[in-house]
Amino acid sequence: MRIDIEELKNKIKPKLRPIIWRDEDNTLILLDQRKLPFEEVYVELRDPVSTADAIRQMIVRGAPAIGITAAYGMVLAIAHGNTSTLDEALKELARAREVLNAARPTAQNLFWATERMYNRARNAVNNGEARNVKELVEILRREAKAIFDEEFNAELMMGVYGLEKISDGDTILTQCNAGGLATGTGIGTATAPVRVAHALGIRVSVIAPETRPWLQGARLTVYELMADGIPVTLITDTAVGYVMYKGMVNSVMVGADRILRDGHVYNKIGTFKEAVIAHELGIPFYAIAPSSTFDLKSRVEDVRIEERDPDEVRKIRGVPIAPEGVPVFNPVFDVTPPKYVTALITEKGIIYPPFDKNIPKVLGIA
Ligand code: MRU
Repeated sequence: MRIDIEELKNKIKPKLRPIIWRDEDNTLILLDQRKLPFEEVYVELRDPVSTADAIRQMIVRGAPAIGITAAYGMVLAIAHGNTSTLDEALKELARAREVLNAARPTAQNLFWATERMYNRARNAVNNGEARNVKELVEILRREAKAIFDEEFNAELMMGVYGLEKISDGDTILTQCNAGGLATGTGIGTATAPVRVAHALGIRVSVIAPETRPWLQGARLTVYELMADGIPVTLITDTAVGYVMYKGMVNSVMVGADRILRDGHVYNKIGTFKEAVIAHELGIPFYAIAPSSTFDLKSRVEDVRIEERDPDEVRKIRGVPIAPEGVPVFNPVFDVTPPKYVTALITEKGIIYPPFDKNIPKVLGIA
């Protein structure tokens, strides 16, 4: 099917705006995702420390959205008159990068975005493009906006490439929220092919596991798909195997927090289970992510899987569900080995095994 991207942009008009930048007073405005779907509350941020806190506390979450937020967090480091020389500004940016990078350990987009922003600033200072701090702020604002725009366009392309994997009437199993809230754009990664299919009149529906402990599936994926009129059914995490066994799932489409050169996919806890069951039952498993999620340098042993507060498991939205003080293990991501991954869908194309050969080839990076 030939798809006109400009026409598609008109058809997919995201309603959600989880990340807003206000130029007039250099303020980052985030939709507080902890409160969804019950309240739509925005928080305003004016410095990198509170931006890092917002990432840590999951006011904003999802790998690409964390990256975009961190990019704006870098702008905030020098946007409020706290530095007068370019030398000081670069030092401030190096500090901000450290603070932001420490917010969460697994999503590659965070490190990618702060690195890109820092390098842009350093180059602009070294080549004389920025003659003062005001000009540097402007350059960084444009860079953060470029990161957002590139993400939006990448998601459209992932949607177009992913369409190849969707037939009329298909049901897609996902995990967590890899939708427009998780990327900041309103489109999403795992949801991009679904949104493109829906916009083109192809019938497609989604099964969303609730995704304990933060319930991103129940609270966020369901909320955003319902808002766009895309059929979605909520299941418990424990029903994943049964719905696949029952033949209710045509393919699994998930996002990713990091993808390694050999095809290991890091994503929300529970993804690995979906991949193994899909493999066993002959259901294709796709991880969908932009190139900013790929980490071609690290090996599995280098990547830290975030472990969060035990109370996230002992309680559900503040209500205790287990005896007080019970020991808890709360890893919030897992890693799916390449043998369970049918293909990776990126903005540059679909990548098939062998991944170590094909990832650098398709992404065009060594
Ligand atoms: O802990 P979260 O909510 O930040 O985890 C999010 C996920 O695991 C997503 O699937 C991933 O970041 C991809 S988002 C397009």
